[in-house]
Amino acid sequence: VTATTGNAAGGSTSVGGAQAVDGVGMVNGYRTESAATLPSDVRARIDRRSRALGPGYQLFYEQPLVVTRAAGVHLFDERGNAYLDAYNNVASLGHNHPYVVEAITRQLQTLNTNTRYLQDSTVDCAEQLLATLPDRLDRVVFTCTGSEANDLALRICAAHTGARGVIVTANAYHGVTEAVAGISPSLGPGVDLAPFVRVVPAPDPRVAGSADAGAVASYMSAQVRAAADDLRRHGYGLSAFVADSVFSSDGVFAAPVPWLREVARTARAAGGLYVADEVQAGMGRLGDRWWGFERHDVVPDLVTIGKPLGNGYPVAAVALQHAVGEAFGSRARYFNTFGGSTVATAAASAVLTVLDRDDLVRRAAATGAHLRSLLTDQVAPLPGVGDVRGTGMFWAVEMSAAGIPDGARTRAVVNAMRAAGVLVSASGPAGNVVKIRPPLIFGRAHAEQLVDALATAIAGTAPSKEKA
Ligand SMILES: Cc1ncc(COP(=O)(O)O)c(C=O)c1O
Repeated sequence: VTATTGNAAGGSTSVGGAQAVDGVGMVNGYRTESAATLPSDVRARIDRRSRALGPGYQLFYEQPLVVTRAAGVHLFDERGNAYLDAYNNVASLGHNHPYVVEAITRQLQTLNTNTRYLQDSTVDCAEQLLATLPDRLDRVVFTCTGSEANDLALRICAAHTGARGVIVTANAYHGVTEAVAGISPSLGPGVDLAPFVRVVPAPDPRVAGSADAGAVASYMSAQVRAAADDLRRHGYGLSAFVADSVFSSDGVFAAPVPWLREVARTARAAGGLYVADEVQAGMGRLGDRWWGFERHDVVPDLVTIGKPLGNGYPVAAVALQHAVGEAFGSRARYFNTFGGSTVATAAASAVLTVLDRDDLVRRAAATGAHLRSLLTDQVAPLPGVGDVRGTGMFWAVEMSAAGIPDGARTRAVVNAMRAAGVLVSASGPAGNVVKIRPPLIFGRAHAEQLVDALATAIAGTAPSKEKA
């Protein structure tokens, strides 16, 4: 495999993807320039999909994968080929987990309605979730998606603070509604940020000038203070500092810790609340702790939870301190037709039960430690690898050439791994981070297969000549 070059936002074409604009905003997106290399049946499928689906959809990989079933850590294509799924943080217990499937099925056969009826199961689920969180977070509101959870969090913060301003990191992603797309700079220049949003740099120790947690805390606090001052001068005030606890779309920054505690204090001093977006970082993904913010020794005012909560069933939540929700609750009614439905909470309860029963957070830490040593030994020394970072079941391998981000090679590596039957993807503002997020049930042998495939893919690709 050789590195390919390609422009990040090429034109549109009707071959292999009618109306699709190539690669807008997604590093590892299928681009129509590779349509000619696809088997004719795959090309036909892409054309058909483009004719039926609305705008904005993207596919992964130069050769999009036709998937027909899954089990545990594997996805299967229609010929029965297995792909090791090292990217899917939704099916965090493994695909089609039998305990969760059984719980959902049984509930669907019994009762599925909404939160306007008294159902013990709704409260059971909320209590189960709260038991994993610090005591000060004592209420749960159910939503269907992470976007809805963040959207609601913004409303709750605005009601509590009487302010509007929001601070996020430079390449943050918080979701798809108008409100949260407006605080998601990673969607790119085609999506306007809200006028009351200010961005601070991602907590990259190289940008902060030190890998010391205290130094990163001071640097980030100064940035947040300046952003809050600017919001105040413009009449917005500070409502919320919203941070993905692992800074996924910023390129994955899990270390150093702790520094968020000091930044939360700064945000609160400016009148705002601290919202921990745990949609990616939460539920054991970072190993040894349930929640990403816990690694920072801080208790947020609100926590938003999504993706893995239903292991694939759409269920998400906001956890908050009771007092923080009062202003919102005194003014607004909250009803979400599907949010917190009987089946949704059955799914979430089953996931929480399995995480606990199978000690998966500890397993994520143990397999994560093995992954760390494999990546350090086999991948970090390879030419073209600029950085290896992460923790637990969330890893990033940054590709660069002479210090310049090498997004084209990153895409080549991701696609070579796909060809070798291992699924990962890419992220970061320059698209030069191989992003690795396996299910928590990954074992040592899976980690070894993953790292072997990664090392082989890197060795088999050349540095690109593409300018960053
Ligand atoms: C950090 C983060 N927050 C929020 C969301 C939005 O979640 P959803 O896609 O469930 O709306 C995502 C989704 O990728 C995310 O990564």
